[in-house]
This record gives sequence, C-alpha cells and structure tokens, in this order.
Amino acid sequence: MHHLLGIHGMQAGAISHLLACAQNPAATRLDGKVILNLFLENSTRTRLSFDMAAQRLGARVMTMTADGSSLKKGESLGDTLHTLAAMQPDGVVIRCSENGSAQLAADIFTCPVINAGDGTNEHPTQALLDALTLTQRFGTLAGLRISIVGDIAHSRVAHSNALLLSTMGAAVTLCGPSALLPTDTAPWLGDNITVTDSLARALDGAQAVMALRLQKERFATHLNIDEAAYHASYGLTADRVAGDVAVLHPGPMNRGVEIDDALADDATRSLIVQQVANGVTMRAAVLATLLAPTHAMKVAA
Ligand code: NCD
Repeated sequence: MHHLLGIHGMQAGAISHLLACAQNPAATRLDGKVILNLFLENSTRTRLSFDMAAQRLGARVMTMTADGSSLKKGESLGDTLHTLAAMQPDGVVIRCSENGSAQLAADIFTCPVINAGDGTNEHPTQALLDALTLTQRFGTLAGLRISIVGDIAHSRVAHSNALLLSTMGAAVTLCGPSALLPTDTAPWLGDNITVTDSLARALDGAQAVMALRLQKERFATHLNIDEAAYHASYGLTADRVAGDVAVLHPGPMNRGVEIDDALADDATRSLIVQQVANGVTMRAAVLATLLAPTHAMKVAA
C-alpha cells in the first residue's frame, strides 16, 4: 500500500493489518521525515490528530490552509499540488472539498498521499479510527449491527464507514430523511448495507449507532432541511437510544440537532471522546505503515 485514498477497493486483510498496527503501538520512528498537511477545508480533529501523530513519531509537519495561500490568488489546485511536489515532502495529508482531490494528489506526488476527506467522497482514516473504537468495545466487527443516522448522501464519513464495516462483516443500516439518502446507484452501496428513512427501524436491534451532522455546506441550493423538524424525527436522544447501545459521532457535533446533550455526554454509552483519542493512534499507524512500511509490518506480525 503506497497511498491511502479510500476504503473503496481495500481488502479486509489490509484493514485488519492497520487495526493490528494501531493496537500494537510500537517504536516506529519517522525522524527526519517532513509531512505536508494540506488542509484546504476546515478541520479540528483530523488536522490536529494527524499533526499530533506525526510529531509523536518524530516527523516534522508543515501545514498549509487555503487561506493565506496562492489558491486565493487564482492558482489552480493542480498547479498548487505540482508546486508542492517539487519541494519533495516525505508524505502528504490532504483535505479538500473537491471529490477526487486526493487521487489528483496521488497522481502528482511520488511520496505517500493520505486522504483526510475529499468532498462527499471518502474519509478513510475516520472509518479506520471508528473501526478501532468499535473493535475495542465489541471485540470484533464481524456480525456487529450498526446504524449510521444523518446526512448519508453528503457524508464522506458515512461512505467510508459503510464500505469498511460491510467489508469486515458488520451489518450496516444507513438512515436519514429521504432527501439525504443515497441513490440506488451510489458506488459504495453493497452487501450488508440496508437503507431506511425510518429511525425506529434503524434503532431496532442496533448495538451501535453513529450520528452524523447535516453537511449544509454541501447541500444543493434547493435543499432546505429545517433543523428542528430534523431533530424531532432523526435526532438521537438519551431516550430514543435504548439501553447499552454504543454511541459514536465523528464531530463536529451540532448539539440539539443530530444528537442531544444527554446522549453526547453519557459516560457509559458515548464513545465520542474515545474516537478522538483513537484518531491520533490510528493516524500514527497509517503514517507508520505508509512512511516506514518495513517496520510497521514487523509490528503487526
Ligand atoms: C467529518 C468530516 O470532515 O468529514 N469530520 C471529521 O473529520 N471528524 C464530519 C463532518 O464534518 O461532519
């Protein structure tokens, strides 16, 4: 594996390998490596956890955001990437609102490229850290019944998670209002994935449930979802989510819309803080695997 562009096309073995690396944090060092963090779209957790992971491994990190760059002077993404490639970083982490931007970077850079979220397409390290979190809670992903509730159509987190979890043998239900559900032709729909607009059906029998934000910045102009109405029908609340169901959210949370305070802050059910911690662990495993592959393979063996 040279790049990590998406979960699409990844075999179960490669996913298990990364989970094993994350669960055996070893002495992999990336001293002397320089990683370019290209965050052309806003981020808190993903950007800082890549930065934290890289620095903990001894690498140095250079971060570029769109603001303050020549993208604001009209330079194209392609020209920007060619410019940065000429500086020869050892690894590139890219987040961008354009679908396919990570693939474009991989076509330009010779070093490993990691997709930190490209438009509505994929967010593979989020799915991997969620898989790590679920594995810690349930022991295995095989047979796990998990529902993902929210803006499925626009959420790269939903897409990467649906692909990863179904590949690993979990039964995935995707739930949201019909305007925010995928079309039947979405490339990441497949075996083990059910789609419903009924929250009751999605919660029935689920062992874990993941709430997702309304991705308003990606809505087509005609799409208008009222937040209060959304919360009334699809908001995850402490009352609606039964018993000991595990609760996940990739952040950023819009409290009172897709999740209520009582559930988000429920110390026994909410895995949200653990997800953030695992973000550092999993990104360290990905960086080590791609930038120091021989060492990371020994760790997982
Ligand atoms: C997500 C993203 O950027 O896709 N956030 C994250 O990386 N933790 C989810 C979102 O923005 O809603």
